[in-house]
Amino acid sequence: MKKRILPLDPDDFEQVKEIMIKEWGSDYVIVHGDIIHPAELPGYKIMDGKTLVGLITCAVRGQQCEIVTLNSFREAEGIGETLLKTVETYALSQQCTTCMLVTTNNNLNALGFYQRRGYYIAEVKPGAVDESRKVKMSIPLIDENGIPIRDEITLIKQIG
Ligand SMILES: CC(C)(COP(=O)(O)OP(=O)(O)OC[C@H]1O[C@@H](n2cnc3c(N)ncnc32)[C@H](O)[C@@H]1OP(=O)(O)O)[C@@H](O)C(=O)NCCC(=O)NCCS
Repeated sequence: MKKRILPLDPDDFEQVKEIMIKEWGSDYVIVHGDIIHPAELPGYKIMDGKTLVGLITCAVRGQQCEIVTLNSFREAEGIGETLLKTVETYALSQQCTTCMLVTTNNNLNALGFYQRRGYYIAEVKPGAVDESRKVKMSIPLIDENGIPIRDEITLIKQIG
């Protein structure tokens, strides 16, 4: 079956919330010190039949679009890249000149994925996750890959 990419609508709210809880440990994320509820944001999903196989949420602030969450549930099929490109197109339509996101030092896969797609490291905040953990205690201390989770890394791409 051909995959379809669709904008998130209010009917997706509960499912997006459930995915956030499963993937990120709660229905909110803490990024650059802000508590953000991704289910309340614009975004896109990829459906394969009735199955959701990828999800991206974003927030436009002035001329910058932040990618708040990106999840692919079937890796290495182009789902992540399709979602990223879709948000970049959306960001351009909103007169944004940059896309940015914050990931963490342990997420080597994401750091590679984004840098191979034009994103560059713009800022590193050592210990920022340790601060977030004071609010969201469910953030693990150590990733499954053995790397302590402690720093926030901001990546930016010029889009317009
Ligand atoms: C990071 C993430 C979103 C990438 O999603 P993905 O669907 O695997 O992404 P893609 O399939 O577009 O690309 C992944 C790799 O698969 C390759 N690929 C894509 N289609 C392929 C295919 N048909 N056959 C073989 N390889 C393929 C891509 O070339 C890419 O490799 P590259 O980066 O060396 O170019 C995903 O790993 C994920 O959900 N991670 C957990 C959550 C997370 O960390 N999110 C990001 C932080 S916000």
